[in-house]
Amino acid sequence: MIILKNVLILEGENNLVKKDVAISSGKIDKIGDALHACDVPVIDCKEMWLIPAGVDVHVHLREPGFCHKETVKTGTLAAVKGGFGTIMTMPNLNPTPDSVANLKVQLDILATDSLVHCYPFASVTVGEKGEKISDLAELSSYVKGFTDDGVGVNNYEILAEAMDIAGKNNIVIASHAELTGYGTSEKAEYLACEKEIELLRSHPCKYHFCHISTAESFRLISNAKKEGLNVTCEVTPHHLLLNNDNGIPNNNYQMNPPLRSSENVQAAVNALISSTASMIATDHAPHTAEEKNSEKSPNGITGLETALPLIYTHFVKNGLISHKQFIEITSENPATRFNLPFTSIEEGATADLALLDINNSHTFTACEIVSKSSNTPFIGETYFGKNCLTLINGEIVYRNFVD
Ligand code: DOR
Repeated sequence: MIILKNVLILEGENNLVKKDVAISSGKIDKIGDALHACDVPVIDCKEMWLIPAGVDVHVHLREPGFCHKETVKTGTLAAVKGGFGTIMTMPNLNPTPDSVANLKVQLDILATDSLVHCYPFASVTVGEKGEKISDLAELSSYVKGFTDDGVGVNNYEILAEAMDIAGKNNIVIASHAELTGYGTSEKAEYLACEKEIELLRSHPCKYHFCHISTAESFRLISNAKKEGLNVTCEVTPHHLLLNNDNGIPNNNYQMNPPLRSSENVQAAVNALISSTASMIATDHAPHTAEEKNSEKSPNGITGLETALPLIYTHFVKNGLISHKQFIEITSENPATRFNLPFTSIEEGATADLALLDINNSHTFTACEIVSKSSNTPFIGETYFGKNCLTLINGEIVYRNFVD
């Protein structure tokens, strides 16, 4: 047993109350006042906010295949440092998880090295090449989602077939919506959204749009939801907080979809507030400094270590969303959508927990980064809500404060 003393827990929409929480056998055993037990470790949590550990459905862990950028060990360490307890990993790996045999290469590494609950996506097409459909029927027993993230699936015969298999097996398709021929422009995104929504009408399945970044895409998705189609979308912290009105200062601001205008950023913020975008996802995409500084700088920024405090600071602390909505968009909604186990702060729930220091500010520095790569535009950023403690199944997997 462990007792977490003096945590804040949420009651209702915004009411944080001070409680003690006892954790035993991987579960929240008791929530009360002045809990005590003999010979049990007690941690004074100094009125930090105890939340369900975050669920991030868009993470590039890079292993197998690209361990110079990130490994399962370093990527999941970044996850627990940032307060995440469950992640879904993207399939742009080598081998690509396009068959059960290839997926098993990844599953074996995850089984020994992952610090978090990890659910890999399988790729929609073989090698993510968009030419031949992966073995999706067989892969359905092993994964919660199919995606070719990094590229869009622009072969609509294949996409329709994938939608049918996903629909039959209750699997989510996550779309990197990008129409061939339009680069990474706004049009590339929203025209792909429009075409995919059209296809979904005759091939119903759970359909999820990744990292949506344009006002027009949010409008299309909102209308599709109103129409009753089974559609959701995620938004990233960077598309909510950064714009390209004055260009981008350096390659640590370069990702795909790229940063957009302040009007599109405002549309993303509105989409989050109105729940058109029902979840935050990081698109954690590590690349080495050498790669990012090269002429062919790859797209992507890391995000796991900064997402929760950035969203807390700019949305909850600023009064744009409630504390309850914060929990919904960072854990409950992604878990529900992708059929992942979800915890809540109540007796009997699985103790997958994070502890946010909402009373003190912190400046994020390069030297604290635990990811193997440090390609993030948020170095130097000051925020509230830094994660200080992460428990998975009741075990402390990350702690960085002394009580
Ligand atoms: O910025 C990005 N990085 N967008 C993607 O779609 C792929 C990702 C990566 O794998 O680096």
